[in-house]
Amino acid sequence: MVRVGVIGCGSISRQRHVYEYAHNKDVEIIGYYDFKKDRAEAMAKDFGGKVYDTADELINDPNIDAISVCVANAYHAENTIKALDNGKHVLCEKPMATTLQDCEAMVDAAKRNGKHLLIDQNQRLTNTHKRAKELIASGDYGKVISFQTTFGHGGPESWSADKSSNTWFFKKDAASFGSMADLGIHKLDLIRYLVGDDYATVYSKQVVLDKKFEDGTPIEVDDNSVEVLTFKNGVFGTVTTSWTVYGEEIQQTTIFLQKGIMKLYADPNYSLIVVKSDGTVDKFQLDVIQTNDDVQQASSGVVDEFIGAIKEDRPSILDASDVINSMKAVFACVESNEKGQEVNI
Ligand SMILES: NC(=O)c1ccc[n+]([C@@H]2O[C@H](COP(=O)([O-])OP(=O)(O)OC[C@H]3O[C@@H](n4cnc5c(N)ncnc54)[C@H](O)[C@@H]3O)[C@@H](O)[C@H]2O)c1
Repeated sequence: MVRVGVIGCGSISRQRHVYEYAHNKDVEIIGYYDFKKDRAEAMAKDFGGKVYDTADELINDPNIDAISVCVANAYHAENTIKALDNGKHVLCEKPMATTLQDCEAMVDAAKRNGKHLLIDQNQRLTNTHKRAKELIASGDYGKVISFQTTFGHGGPESWSADKSSNTWFFKKDAASFGSMADLGIHKLDLIRYLVGDDYATVYSKQVVLDKKFEDGTPIEVDDNSVEVLTFKNGVFGTVTTSWTVYGEEIQQTTIFLQKGIMKLYADPNYSLIVVKSDGTVDKFQLDVIQTNDDVQQASSGVVDEFIGAIKEDRPSILDASDVINSMKAVFACVESNEKGQEVNI
């Protein structure tokens, strides 16, 4: 049995981490901490386990082997590093941390303590994305030339447990980034995973178009962004993110290869389609992408992967030591937007 504690009891904690721990036969949920105690109490009532008064009390509990860090972005690093230094394995939410130095300190802490540190880059685990990676790596469609990917929804204010446009997601000190990293890290990481190379340069533009705090002032982080990226191997493309896509969530990725066009989650019936240069089409129905509208429609697989990596003491596809390379693109996006010019990653 892996004995688990959870720090942060908001939406992702409830809908993914705790829900999936509760459905994993190798897990015992020991308890919860949230600085809004009523949220930890509600979790204990619904899923079992105790409530801690402080994060340190949970982190120091010798009855806990592994911890999920599900708090606001700015507090990922401090909780993760303390947990690792207290001998716990950690599954930390994305974006991994708010500075590159913190990301590096997290990876160092995992190494120093010989513990597993995984980041919830759940998009790597979908059947469609896994198959896309295999197909690209097979070379059957030729090399990747370019890509276009987009992730947009109506914003985090209706998703966050806060249910308010004064949510921490819109505040610079707690969130650090806006849609560019909140949504963009999923796609920046996915494209890196699919292409199998590291980014070389980025030009990023981040803007606030529509989101306002309850008092009517604009939010402190971007609600839309566009990134133009190149990889070291020359692959070139764009990532666009938006919190102002009202109506339905949009997530689509197109990979242009020498012998065809690969479309991911672009068709309601086939999650992966390759339109080949000879005019024929390969179609696969592999899954439906998980959205914030219906996060429990399928297990993300992230918790099972975390518990599997701990039990088998094996490397994971979600290891922070790899995800940090996607985070370098996020920090370069921040720098590019501030300078108004392309930057090296
Ligand atoms: N992997 C994904 O697809 C995905 C989806 C949504 C959110 N997230 C990430 O999960 C994290 C949490 O987001 P959420 O949607 O659950 O937000 P949320 O607002 O619903 O919940 C956050 C919770 O953390 C608590 N909290 C914040 N800082 C804390 C601290 N320092 N100590 C203790 N409790 C603290 C808040 O009181 C709140 O209950 C964020 O980093 C977010 O980016 C990831």
